[in-house]
Amino acid sequence: MKIGNLSLANNLFLAPMAGITDLPFRLIFKSFGVSLVFTEMVSANGLVYNGARTRDLLRSQPREKPLAVQLFGADPDIMARAAALVEEEADVIDINMGCPVKKVVRSGAGSALMREPLRAAAIIRAVRHVTRRPLTVKFRSGWDRDSENYLEVGRMAQEEGADAVTLHPRTRTQGFGGLSDWSHIRKLKQALKIPVIGSGDVLKPADADRLTEQTGCDALMLGRGAYGNPWLARSILNLNNREETSCPPPAKRRQVALLHIDMHLEYFGATRTLGEMRKHLCWYARGLPGAANFRARINSTRSIAEMVRETDAFFSASSDQL
Ligand SMILES: Cc1cc2nc3c(=O)[nH]c(=O)nc-3n(C[C@H](O)[C@H](O)[C@H](O)COP(=O)(O)O)c2cc1C
Repeated sequence: MKIGNLSLANNLFLAPMAGITDLPFRLIFKSFGVSLVFTEMVSANGLVYNGARTRDLLRSQPREKPLAVQLFGADPDIMARAAALVEEEADVIDINMGCPVKKVVRSGAGSALMREPLRAAAIIRAVRHVTRRPLTVKFRSGWDRDSENYLEVGRMAQEEGADAVTLHPRTRTQGFGGLSDWSHIRKLKQALKIPVIGSGDVLKPADADRLTEQTGCDALMLGRGAYGNPWLARSILNLNNREETSCPPPAKRRQVALLHIDMHLEYFGATRTLGEMRKHLCWYARGLPGAANFRARINSTRSIAEMVRETDAFFSASSDQL
């Protein structure tokens, strides 16, 4: 699998997810085998005008490389300046044209760009002009049911010099509801020469097989299926031994959950770790007996020591029970 001049070890990627795919999360997925990880979306305006806080999203480590940095913005010139600023750390520059969040859309960025193909083209052209890094564009199927223009947007991205595109085949109006329509990924793949990456509803190893078979996509991304489940990546890649890897025993979950807390603490400090790790720990516990009770306890922890103690106790007890 190649994106521009970048060769990748396989065709399984971790999707960009704001609030989720921070450095520790990406490092965990990298160690479970995905070949490319994406940052959370990073504001081009933020990078250009108030560097420090936004640059925090760009913290990286050599062992997560190659890294795709995703930018969002509405102004071609500012997007180009931001792309030039991230060139050093980015092995791939990705442009966000799918974010449905109101604040982002109101600023003309994210999925709002699907309604303004000329502006979208100007952004891709401007970024292409300033960087030789592989350039990708991620978009939805359209603004709403009556304006599904992903084929037009995909062709335009290809013409403007994108090296690959990612389609999340839901409309902006759909948000994250319902199922993604994989037939759109197939149609886009048939229409373009550059690689097409499929995103949407890969929750089990069999979903990855079906998505690839049904669409012919060149690569796929794990989104919400990745929550608390890096083993999903390993089992998709480990075709011969899926059962062993797809439903991890509590002892393995304990190990990864504790490592995740440790890494989060190292990179972001105690206050953020207490707030941000809760959701991850609840996801690691999903499906185990007593998970609801664990959720309540973890959501009321007041120190890292308590969080570690609760996590250790829960997964150790689950190991004894099963
Ligand atoms: C919490 C959350 C945050 C997301 N943030 C981003 C983002 O920053 N940039 C982006 O292009 N897509 C973002 N997405 C969309 C995902 O990358 C993915 O395309 C989408 O969730 C569909 O895949 P899934 O059904 O496997 O979750 C986000 C999705 C979720 C659930």
